[in-house]
Amino acid sequence: MKMIELDHVNKIFGNGVGRVQAIKDISFAAKSGELSLVLGPSGSGKSTFLTIAGGLQKPTSGTVKIGGIDVGSLSAKERDRLRLNKVGFVLQNYDLLPYLTVKEQFQLIQRVSSQTISQQELKKLLKELGIDQLVNKYPPQLSGGQMQRVAIARALYQKPAVILADEPTAALDSQRVQVVGKLLTNLAHQRGETVIVVTHDERLRSFADHVYQIIDGQMTMES
Ligand SMILES: Nc1ncnc2c1ncn2[C@@H]1O[C@H](COP(=O)(O)OP(=O)(O)OP(=O)(O)O)[C@@H](O)[C@H]1O
Ligand SMILES: [Mg+2]
Repeated sequence: MKMIELDHVNKIFGNGVGRVQAIKDISFAAKSGELSLVLGPSGSGKSTFLTIAGGLQKPTSGTVKIGGIDVGSLSAKERDRLRLNKVGFVLQNYDLLPYLTVKEQFQLIQRVSSQTISQQELKKLLKELGIDQLVNKYPPQLSGGQMQRVAIARALYQKPAVILADEPTAALDSQRVQVVGKLLTNLAHQRGETVIVVTHDERLRSFADHVYQIIDGQMTMES
């Protein structure tokens, strides 16, 4: 099933001399059970594409569907609800709350989300990512790579049908890249989730079912 669909999407920021067209006529679809990798250099439009695909920001033109529902036809409240229940984001800036411990970041999600993985599954996930010893720490006490892995675990904790990850391996060493790559592939292949990763990290290529290139806001399919 097509879980994420973009149809002729454009995104323009600013106007006059400050006008930037970050996304140029992108049509894209991602099915459940598959990991799509979008590769592109810095400033090519990766984060803009991903946040539009997940309904975090609106396109200037074109349509975005999540689970078959046209996001543009929803009220802000309905859109938030759809996102909360279906989409797990791993954002580029990690987006962790600095005044909550790692454990509390998960508890916060548990309060607002309709479904989460079990505490036992969470324990296993934290161990797999090598962050099980950090649950009582605050984000400012963590390294970039540790924050990155907490952000990944947080996205997976809410058991989303769609996982959208922005540079999820930027701060990780090669060994951890393999762990995270395998984890994301397993979510797609074993749990039937829809996984989209945007990155410039070529090390993730081998984990992908489909590879796309985004250059200067334009997307092409590679395989
Ligand atoms: N909110 C915004 N206002 C104005 N311009 C923006 C905004 N967000 C992104 N842009 C511009 O859109 C283009 C694409 O930005 P985007 O962040 O999507 O690139 P990226 O591929 O994610 O880059 P990076 O690899 O450095 O994260 C850039 O030229 C950027 O300056
Ligand atoms: Mg980016």
